[in-house]
Amino acid sequence: MATVLRNWSYQYQWLYDGISQLAALAVGGERRFHYLPLQNLTICHETKILDLCCGSGQATRFLVEYSQNVTGLDASPLSLGRAKRNVPQAGYVEGLAEEMPLPDAQFDIVHTSVALHEMTPTVLRQIIKEVHRVLKPGGIFTLVDFHKPTNFLFWPGVAIFLWLFETETAWQLLEEDLVGLLEETGFKICEHRLYAGGSLQVIQVRKVEG
Ligand SMILES: C[S@@+](CC[C@H](N)C(=O)[O-])C[C@H]1O[C@@H](n2cnc3c(N)ncnc32)[C@H](O)[C@@H]1O
Repeated sequence: MATVLRNWSYQYQWLYDGISQLAALAVGGERRFHYLPLQNLTICHETKILDLCCGSGQATRFLVEYSQNVTGLDASPLSLGRAKRNVPQAGYVEGLAEEMPLPDAQFDIVHTSVALHEMTPTVLRQIIKEVHRVLKPGGIFTLVDFHKPTNFLFWPGVAIFLWLFETETAWQLLEEDLVGLLEETGFKICEHRLYAGGSLQVIQVRKVEG
């Protein structure tokens, strides 16, 4: 699955960003899209935030508006190089989200934006465990990603998007009970909100203290 457009969108940042901006119109634009996972969170300048699978810093650049303590992690040296140029206010770590080269209990917030749909079900489970490990007790994991549309009118747009740009892992995510997985790993659900006819979900969970 996926077409040559997927490779091009990773190769040419202007294409990736253009498509993201277009898709974000479904929720009122890019700024609002990036604000959705941050809604209702208390963030100050000292809040330690990990932007997991930060790509070229598309969401990182919004996170640094809230905190001076943002770290981006990504497996792609090309994307990290771009992120460093685009958002020099953040620190960066190259590594796998399922095996983070980071110590335990470091972050107040782990944030991830449209990345979990890139993971196989096995890797997804490993990542959730790793997020739990690197969060401080009481810390928050907040994510925004695809969800199976609840409004059938949104199905054609989602199907075309996934066919053009994504692989089978995006389809697999639509079938995942992400909330259930997070609860099994020791998180307490704070929010699960759907947007754009249910095609987009925001989940906020807390690492249970003690
Ligand atoms: C669709 S992009 C999302 C980028 C950005 N977060 C955004 O909001 O646009 C997915 C990113 O996940 C990264 N990625 C994929 N698998 C990964 C893994 N196992 N560990 C770390 N990063 C990974 C890719 O390199 C890519 O930069």
